[in-house]
Amino acid sequence: MYQAPRGTFDILPKEQAYWRYIEQKVVNICQLYGYERIDAPVFEDSQLFSRSVGKETDIVDKQMYTFKDRGGNSLTLRPEGTAPVCRAYLEHGLHNLPQPVRLYYLAAIFRYERPQSGRYRQHHQFGYEAIGDGDPTLDAEVIDMAWRFFTSLSLRHLSLQLNSIGCKKCRRQYLAALKEHYARSSKNLCSDCKTRLKRNPLRLLDCKKRQCQPIADSAPRSTDYLCSECEKHFSQLKRYLKLLKIPFTLNHRLVRGLDYYTRTVFEIQPEKATAQSALGGGGRYDDLIEELGGKPTPAIGFGAGLERIVLNLKKESAPIPPLPRPQLFIAHLGDAATEDAVKLAASLRKAGIAAVIAPAGKSLKSQLRQANSLGFTKAVIIGEDEVKSGTAIVRDMTTSQQKTVPLPQLERELK
Ligand code: HAM
Repeated sequence: MYQAPRGTFDILPKEQAYWRYIEQKVVNICQLYGYERIDAPVFEDSQLFSRSVGKETDIVDKQMYTFKDRGGNSLTLRPEGTAPVCRAYLEHGLHNLPQPVRLYYLAAIFRYERPQSGRYRQHHQFGYEAIGDGDPTLDAEVIDMAWRFFTSLSLRHLSLQLNSIGCKKCRRQYLAALKEHYARSSKNLCSDCKTRLKRNPLRLLDCKKRQCQPIADSAPRSTDYLCSECEKHFSQLKRYLKLLKIPFTLNHRLVRGLDYYTRTVFEIQPEKATAQSALGGGGRYDDLIEELGGKPTPAIGFGAGLERIVLNLKKESAPIPPLPRPQLFIAHLGDAATEDAVKLAASLRKAGIAAVIAPAGKSLKSQLRQANSLGFTKAVIIGEDEVKSGTAIVRDMTTSQQKTVPLPQLERELK
């Protein structure tokens, strides 16, 4: 028997209410903040990701689904949503529009990760990007929007973790201090951190191995090394967040797993955070558009994992509005009745009444049993007598009360 590939799963009909609920909240929040939808292709030129996300990141180094197409081009299934949006911004000249350009997406994302609860090889993200403005009011907007999105989902017990990792200029000094600190304890580091020390020192702070915790906790803080512009930007952002009454926790170990970030980085985490529990994360990426060939263009964005949201909604037993279901079940007995049932189903649907017809060749009892187990509240029954008299029986499935209605009046009766 075939199975869904490891780390992927089917979203069965009984799960769909969660997904539609979240999508509805996404559409509402984006409309409220003036973000417009963009859909990029599922795959892109592989270099787009190595140049933006960074060659030394886990994503590019170990997790991309990269393949050569029949024309010999190297393509990659998108492992994140920001780089494709930036590529589209440049390709379609969106810098000619009034800035910032506010865009959002709902997209499947592919990462070859070790699957576990909350971590999959295909997941879905709600992401949004505001491109073309460096002011901290935009950082506050993007964070406020993420916070309001989770509140609107009725998710509680969340925390907002915040940090500033500075710009190209001040980062250099910080990285030197960080490396010096780690070099002093290098023999106590896990093997991954030994590599990170050489290849991507910022990521040292992200290590979850127990032996590395004391070293990471006592490491120098990026916020102590910010240049005056980054310092001003960060304190203004904190002021705005206080004005907006958004509670945040400064977390000097928050660095994020993608290389394009500058200045503000943030994550929304559940109270009991683990390595794969962040519900969403984002930050500024003021150099990315230029890195991809555009003019210097500051930008900021956020991405949230829908699977993790569903997991948390379930954990908190959040009330999810049910999806609309067909209202009416049409039972029929005998060939002539089946013909009438087929015609009736078509005319009711034309009138906007959602109807499901019973499978043919079953006893009335078994048809009604099916109606019950599918949760129908109303059934229409047509047998030989009803065909002869041009009527149908309308049955209330919860009370079992029945009444005979002439066919021409059925639509009005059901409405
Ligand atoms: P990210 O932190 O890599 O950021 O992913 C965003 C969110 O996607 C995570 O917080 C998590 O909820 C979810 N996620 C990530 N990987 C997985 C996985 N393997 N399985 C399930 N869920 C996952 C980004 O991707 C950035 N592009 C976000 C961003 C937008 N930054 C600026 N703009």
